Amino acid sequence: DKLGVEINVEPKRVSGKRDKKIYGHFIEHFHRQIYNGIYDPESPLSDEDGFRTDIIEAVKKIDIPILRWPGGCFVSSYHWKDAVGKERKPLFDKAWRVEDPNTFGTDEYIKMCEKIGCEPYICTNAGTGTAEEMSDWVEYCNLENEGQYAKWRIENGNPEPFKVKYWSIGNENYGHWEIGAKSADEWGKLVREAAKMIKHVDPETELSAAALSDLEWNVNLLKNCGEFLDWISIHEYWDMVPEENDLATYEQCMAFTKDVGHAVDEVRGLLKAMKLDKKIKIAFDEWNLRSWHHPNVHTIEQGVDKKDYLDPRDKNDDNSQYTMADAVFTACFLNAMNRNCDIVGMANFAPVLNTRGCIYSYDQGIVLRTTYHVFDLYVNYLGDTIIDLWTDQLPQMTINDKQGNEVEVESLDLLATKWSDKEGIAIAAVNKAPQEGQLLDLSIAADYKEAKLFYISGENKDSYNDVDKNEVKIIEEDLGEFAGNLKLELKPHSVNIIQLK
Ligand code: AHR
Repeated sequence: DKLGVEINVEPKRVSGKRDKKIYGHFIEHFHRQIYNGIYDPESPLSDEDGFRTDIIEAVKKIDIPILRWPGGCFVSSYHWKDAVGKERKPLFDKAWRVEDPNTFGTDEYIKMCEKIGCEPYICTNAGTGTAEEMSDWVEYCNLENEGQYAKWRIENGNPEPFKVKYWSIGNENYGHWEIGAKSADEWGKLVREAAKMIKHVDPETELSAAALSDLEWNVNLLKNCGEFLDWISIHEYWDMVPEENDLATYEQCMAFTKDVGHAVDEVRGLLKAMKLDKKIKIAFDEWNLRSWHHPNVHTIEQGVDKKDYLDPRDKNDDNSQYTMADAVFTACFLNAMNRNCDIVGMANFAPVLNTRGCIYSYDQGIVLRTTYHVFDLYVNYLGDTIIDLWTDQLPQMTINDKQGNEVEVESLDLLATKWSDKEGIAIAAVNKAPQEGQLLDLSIAADYKEAKLFYISGENKDSYNDVDKNEVKIIEEDLGEFAGNLKLELKPHSVNIIQLK
């Protein structure tokens, strides 16, 4: 049962260079992402600053370029001033309805970014917060020594400014679930004032604010604030039911890949129509295949307290849920962001750790979930420049989507790249088919000394990693010399990088 396709690549025809920030991540004060996650001063695995060294090492390996913090919904009732300096005031987190000790604040976050070697990206409180509180935060982080906030940072042991370039005004403030949600009109006005004040404090900052696929909201935002914004932020979680490892669930996930870039297309169209597409880029600053369970906390949605309906088991910690379906979906999403690199300058996998993250931590160590290896492949094995790849026809598969409707989906997702700083090309080839291999017949008018394949597939589509179970990992295969043509077979449900050097 093998599908087959002939593909051609022309390395001289370049369609764009991706911004590395599309491989960014997100971390929120939620579940075990910060406390009892990456920040765990009590753990014997932590360093002198309280950071788990095994997690930091894993994150460094996927070279994450940027890490969004502190929320998410969490930020909409967060007051940063309570979480710096010696006096930390505990906070009742109104989004997730738990106490936060506030022992992890701005200084700890910056230290964490330094250890990881990534850019910070701070999301401000536009729920219960004010434009002034946001710009005070920028003063604290970015001014040399002028004013009480910069002086406060120095007093707190940080004489040098943190130089935080990327700031997001608010989170999903359009949503009824968000504390301090806003109307389209209120949003336009608040973002305008906040943006103005932040840019007055530090003109070097790059600002983003929340959009969604609602025309009125977006038009209002762009009309009021287009001149101040550098980014427009969008989020999407592709929710699946039921959460079982069976063919139906795998097919649901693959059906989501059919139009994975629809939100980008919609926002791109609007930016173009408003003549802002050369000024404003898209930050897809929360995305993941599945939305999150709300563990150990309960939520109130549309007036209904969901505490009674919570599964006592924390399903986020059930590693068997993060299978090759997640990996294949993740690769398709990253391919789409690479293809849209003219307008998408940042994307943040949500979250990096625990909950639905690509890393799972427990007291004695970590598990690298399937999605972690996709980031490893894309960051460390793929090129940064997108080149032309064409084929007569991509193989299709007929599957059932979430609603149980039959849909036709391409079973192969291909992206060709080269490097701007070294010779060679690298092709990402994602085989979405649950059972069938794919025969690739690749032609390029060039010779290369060596061809190599790096891939993940696991034993079957439901393969996952867990404590003491390392079923999914990157496998390397030598394919010999490349003289214009190469035939190879991709495994079912696999993410592959073919390198020619
Ligand atoms: O469930 C986590 C939440 O998902 C994030 O806080 C929010 O931004 C998104 O709706």
